[in-house]
Amino acid sequence: MANGSGGRGRFGQLGFIFAAVGSAIGLGNIWKFPYITYANDGGSFVLVYLIAIVLIGLPIMMAELVIGRSTRQSPVGAFVEAAKGAVGGRAWGAVGALGTLGSFILLSYYALIAGWTVYYFGQCLSWSFRGFDTGGQTLGDSFGAFLGNGPLQIGFHALFMAVTVGVVALGVQGGIERVAKTLMPVLGGILILLVVNSFWSPGFGEAVRFLFHVGPVTADGLLEAVGHAFFTLSVGMGAMITYGSYMRSRQSIPRSAAAITLLDTLVALMACIVMFSIIFSVDGAERAGTFGKSATILFTTLPQMFYEMPLGVVLAPLFYLLVGFAALTSTISLLEVVAAYLIDRRGLSRRKASLLSGGAVFLFGIPSALSLGAVTGFSSWAPLGERTAGFFDTMDYTVSNWILPLGGLTLAIFVGWFLSRSKSRDALADGHGDVSRWYFIWRDVLLRFLCPVAILWIIWAVIGGRSFA
Ligand code: PHE
Repeated sequence: MANGSGGRGRFGQLGFIFAAVGSAIGLGNIWKFPYITYANDGGSFVLVYLIAIVLIGLPIMMAELVIGRSTRQSPVGAFVEAAKGAVGGRAWGAVGALGTLGSFILLSYYALIAGWTVYYFGQCLSWSFRGFDTGGQTLGDSFGAFLGNGPLQIGFHALFMAVTVGVVALGVQGGIERVAKTLMPVLGGILILLVVNSFWSPGFGEAVRFLFHVGPVTADGLLEAVGHAFFTLSVGMGAMITYGSYMRSRQSIPRSAAAITLLDTLVALMACIVMFSIIFSVDGAERAGTFGKSATILFTTLPQMFYEMPLGVVLAPLFYLLVGFAALTSTISLLEVVAAYLIDRRGLSRRKASLLSGGAVFLFGIPSALSLGAVTGFSSWAPLGERTAGFFDTMDYTVSNWILPLGGLTLAIFVGWFLSRSKSRDALADGHGDVSRWYFIWRDVLLRFLCPVAILWIIWAVIGGRSFA
């Protein structure tokens, strides 16, 4: 069982990189990172984020890949198998279960947001052909109306989930790898086009200065950077354990993880250049009014600004296509975590597992879809008091503030303190060669101490009332 052969599916060498990069690059890079960077005043926040990525995100990603590849199991089985002989034994399976649950919940609202990109892609296409016209409404109002439209929300959510299920059902190589290999280059191409185009926009210089200027960093900014490092690299919820379980032997884990991290970071920075070049093309006073609450900027202000740019008719739909592709390769990885659990632990066929898990995620996403204005009961549901408003918000709060940090914490502690040295060392050396130069730093410094301390600090802040959703 431990070394299940080809029956579970196996990525090609490059296929693994594409799939994992596809999982990492998503709404987190193109939507969330630009707006938290904007909210935290750019510059130093970006620097802190880069440090968090290297010192916390990357080591944890390597730990997930180690566990996944050495056990060839999805998260629950992977922890059970890896913990054989370690203190705690089978109980570690609970960590895998937490991650699987986290992937399930995250997917239920992530696919919903992803559905919005499809809707805006369609909107932009029609604007490109017929001219930009919102029928007298502001974009903010029309976005609000769209959110409050229950059937539309459910419809786009269903659409996105259906495509995700279709890909996962086609298997590791025939579905996941193939789609990632097709979409990722397209995504890269569109992004490069957008970046090059922004060289000519009046806001480009200021955008670059904003991204790289040096200024004070707040403790809040620091925490947010660490939290986002997890999210953006898809770690803390078993996605990299699952993909790692399909990774070949004789492929270097450290080098692969470094490549994934680097590409993910590059894309996040490029997305910032594109968005900030647009934002900073608007003059200061107007900007303050327009971007006060920038979380929804992708849907409320950006479309119009695209149409004020030369070539906007081409770039606007392309941009939403880009976001949609980025989101799809992430939803695929989230569904794969849940489906792989049903395949490995419950013996379901891949087709059944994909349909069943996808269907369940879809159903569970319905209250979220209806909590954005369509159904008052869901919109005002607030079991956690003032911290969250509505079902969607509550789910996001739970995943971002609890499941993700707890998943990362327990993983770091497991590999740092409980997994035997020889196991992690062998897994890292497989396909890489000598790891003795940095193994000590990775396991005994970063995973044992730095990562747990940083994550405990996040959890402490959350208990104190801070929210990173
Ligand atoms: N990394 C993805 C993003 O940045 C989100 C994600 C998290 C995907 C966890 C899978 C697992 O959008």
